[in-house]
Amino acid sequence: MKKLFAENILQGKVAFVTGGGTGITGGVARAFAEHGAKLAITSRKEENLAGMKATVEGFGGECFAVAADVRDFDAVEAAIAKTVEHYGKIDIVVNGAAGNFLCAAEQLSANGFGTVVDIDTKGTFNVCRASFEELKRSKGQILNISATLHYLATPMQIHVSAAKAGVDAITRNLSVEWGRHGIRVNGIAPGPIEDTEGMKRLLMPELKEKMMRKIPVGRFGRIADIENAALFLASDAANYVTGVTLVVDGGSWLLGTSLT
Ligand code: HXC
Repeated sequence: MKKLFAENILQGKVAFVTGGGTGITGGVARAFAEHGAKLAITSRKEENLAGMKATVEGFGGECFAVAADVRDFDAVEAAIAKTVEHYGKIDIVVNGAAGNFLCAAEQLSANGFGTVVDIDTKGTFNVCRASFEELKRSKGQILNISATLHYLATPMQIHVSAAKAGVDAITRNLSVEWGRHGIRVNGIAPGPIEDTEGMKRLLMPELKEKMMRKIPVGRFGRIADIENAALFLASDAANYVTGVTLVVDGGSWLLGTSLT
């Protein structure tokens, strides 16, 4: 990817990224490391972490991998403690761990709904709460990966829509409560991103063509688009930006073509 930002934009920062092994958040994690951050990545599954660690170390970056389920507060606290033991601090927290599947509301079990809310919403709170003292010390910041699903309504996605609405509420609330501690809290709401596993599974060629015609800027997003938005928000260029969920969707949700 062509670098649009200075390579040292995050030099000296330590970024703790949940779900940082794969997908959109994996891209954000890699981009942060490419721009000077020391990385700690966490995922429920150990095997999701090895690839990213190898990638980052391959270009000379630092990557500390620690397995934890964001639903388990004690496990999250332990992962944060291990990261601080390893790097001495945390400056940036990215909440990217998320669960998702398509299911009609009348077929979704209470446990299915609760599982996604537990991962996305409760998991985001758990990580923010457990990293508070470290972020207060570093005057750090939080970046929550959200979606645009809940701006209108997205069939088959009631669980994720509710969960991400909760994430957006956490972004706003913590920006207000923790601003006085020097902590910025922002979010990113990606639109239809074509190079994710989920989108590749979902998009038959005919559907893709049809959707593309309805995206105002005339193309699908790429993970790199989200990486660039995350680099901006994480950098000092966004020092006065907090409580914002930045929509990166080529204008899609305004026309009701979010599919995210
Ligand atoms: C209906 C389902 C289901 C499905 C799980 N459940 N998958 N219900 N359709 N396809 C139900 C189960 O039946 C169960 O309820 C409950 O959810 C918990 O399921 P488990 O498998 O026991 O839970 P767990 O192992 O914790 O994991 C569940 C999961 C996992 C989180 C959904 O399958 C997963 O991680 N999926 C993919 C993650 C992913 O794609 N992440 C990227 C997210 S992208 P019962 O009642 O039977 O006990 C993203 C962006 C949003 O979030 C916008 C994109 C469009």
